[in-house]
Amino acid sequence: MAKTLFEWDYSSYPGAASYPHLFKPIQIGNLLVPNRIKYAATEDNLNEHTGFITGADVEYMRRRAEGVVGGLCFMQGVYMDPARKGQGYVGQAAAWDDKFIPGLKEIADAIHSERAIAGFQLMDCGRVGAVEVERGHGPSGVPQRLRIFKPMDEMTNAEVKEMVQQHVDAARRGVEAGFDVMEISGIVGYLISNFLSRYTNRRTDEYGGDIRGRCQAMVEIIQGVKDVCGPDIPVGIRLCSEELLDDVRGNPPEDSMMTYQVAEEAGADYISCTLGWQESIYPVISRDIPQGNWLHLAKRAKEHVKIPIQMAYRLFTPDRPNAAIERGELDMWEMCRSMIADPQMPKKVLEGREDEIRHCVACNLCLARLFRDAPMTCYINPTCAHEHDEKFFPKKVADGEEKTVMIVGAGPAGLECAYVAAQRGHEVHVYDKRGEPGGTLLEASKAPYGDEELLTCTAYQKTMCEKYGVNVHLGTEVTPELIEEEFPDTVVLATGPVYEPPAAGGDRENMVNVLDVLRGDIAVGERVVVWGNRKPGIGAALKLAKEGKKVTLVGKERTAGFDVNPSFKWRYMIYLRQNGVKVYNDCDIVEVADGGVVVKTYDGYHIPVACDSVVVSDRKANEDLKQAVQGEGIEMFVIGDALVPRNLSSAVHDGYRIGLRI
Ligand SMILES: Cc1cc2nc3c(=O)[nH]c(=O)nc-3n(C[C@H](O)[C@H](O)[C@H](O)COP(=O)(O)O)c2cc1C
Ligand code: SF4
Repeated sequence: MAKTLFEWDYSSYPGAASYPHLFKPIQIGNLLVPNRIKYAATEDNLNEHTGFITGADVEYMRRRAEGVVGGLCFMQGVYMDPARKGQGYVGQAAAWDDKFIPGLKEIADAIHSERAIAGFQLMDCGRVGAVEVERGHGPSGVPQRLRIFKPMDEMTNAEVKEMVQQHVDAARRGVEAGFDVMEISGIVGYLISNFLSRYTNRRTDEYGGDIRGRCQAMVEIIQGVKDVCGPDIPVGIRLCSEELLDDVRGNPPEDSMMTYQVAEEAGADYISCTLGWQESIYPVISRDIPQGNWLHLAKRAKEHVKIPIQMAYRLFTPDRPNAAIERGELDMWEMCRSMIADPQMPKKVLEGREDEIRHCVACNLCLARLFRDAPMTCYINPTCAHEHDEKFFPKKVADGEEKTVMIVGAGPAGLECAYVAAQRGHEVHVYDKRGEPGGTLLEASKAPYGDEELLTCTAYQKTMCEKYGVNVHLGTEVTPELIEEEFPDTVVLATGPVYEPPAAGGDRENMVNVLDVLRGDIAVGERVVVWGNRKPGIGAALKLAKEGKKVTLVGKERTAGFDVNPSFKWRYMIYLRQNGVKVYNDCDIVEVADGGVVVKTYDGYHIPVACDSVVVSDRKANEDLKQAVQGEGIEMFVIGDALVPRNLSSAVHDGYRIGLRI
């Protein structure tokens, strides 16, 4: 009989009725998992640089364990070699010695405290490793093509055998620490995937050659790890189903599917179906990739093996995995970023509180931070990586300390501030002159390549405002008179930015506002100059170019997309090129006429650019109402773009912080 760790009965929950296939048990190896939900392993750079676990990581994991409501909860992949060649992140947990076991046990205990199943992951980062040392290791010394990664040394035959043993020893430590499921990470360019790929494995010994030979290290690891895990601890592996490395002769799909079959033959109890490498030239998980795009790969994997198939990759809502499981095309729904953004995500699904989910917007800031050796943060979840610090969570104000708070602007900054302040016990009123909440996000979401998903942010905030009793006054412009009349204890100015035409431009008819253009309220000519090379300008430029306009983007920043994190910015650079948008960075517009503008480059050249319309997207801080509030002597905060024009993340984080402070 299969082993059960914790009893769960979902029958009385609304989510189990809506998504019956997500909340039914599955047997993995000899373990009965009560549902089909898994928090996938996630590096967070929260641990000591020596590899020891910190309290911050333990609390980060406890929240995710609560979220999986009895399902699988994996800690981040650990590196296993004392030489640290396998270490890919400065704050990555280590398991190369028994001295790490007590810290690892704290994580297993935290996961068990929420009655979830604790997963341990073995992850030598291979080509993506050696973050703290000069050279990395791999099956062959194939040069890196991404500059941020270190040069590679080819492992000797003895070193390969030592590496296999390191996996086995680390697995034993994971078992001793109390973990219930073991997983080997063979994804995105980490060591196991380097052995499997014909791109990076050019060996001639028993660990190279044809696909069987390239699988040999994986086979020995699976078998060795299974031996130390025994019959009751299932062993799974994450494997690439498509490397997306055709341009460097990576594995063809038949080889990838062969790795699945060989892993099954070697004794793997499940496979997590992944795709893409860090080095792939195609995007896989950014917002421009539609949700559910990769599910066909899980289906194909299931046609090649009998063991359960798990998959993540842009499955941000429960409907698609539920339906895929029903069709027999998937066995378990994995989540990584959905639960970085909202640790309680699947719990809210189960409890029928889907409208309270703060959805990931697939911006990849979390990843960008890891690759810059910074602790993980989330674009739209201000408490991410602060789970251990109670200062980051709303506390009720003392009796008699409640304030009346007037928030001017129902954009993402204002709404975030509003519900947090209301949750703490203040009487909160949000005003907006528009008839709809959402602020400039209403327009930003009209930009192409997935930006409609940004609206999930304000959808969540609106729900939370309702939940905590925020009074929303739409269609009401706040004036100095209204402030004087209401005379609140606190005013928060979340009025959004002021749009600033080029100094030479002034008030011309061919000069239009970016919000009107994104909304589609105003017609522009065939040749357009977009002024401002940050995200709003890029969004408008791409929208217009896709509509067939000839677009030139001109801006003061030295690179376009200065306000977009590097893990997403590269996508925009490609789309600007693909759509034929000409870009002038580090430039000014020194003349505007009916038929064109004159662009001045940073080194003083004047370039005439013919155009019929100039779209103004450049922004500055908003000083409106500041004096009126200060004149009344009322406590005042300015947040979001009204303070300094930045991005959605700053709006949310500003709003949250001030919501905690009022
Ligand atoms: C910040 C971050 C850290 C990750 N760390 C790991 C890891 O330690 N081990 C691993 O196998 N995958 C790791 N991944 C990959 C995820 O587990 C997951 O497969 C991927 O993000 C796609 O799923 P998603 O669309 O639900 O985010 C990481 C991903 C992110 C965004
Ligand atoms: S940082 Fe961006 S991609 Fe990462 S979890 Fe948060 S919203 Fe999602």
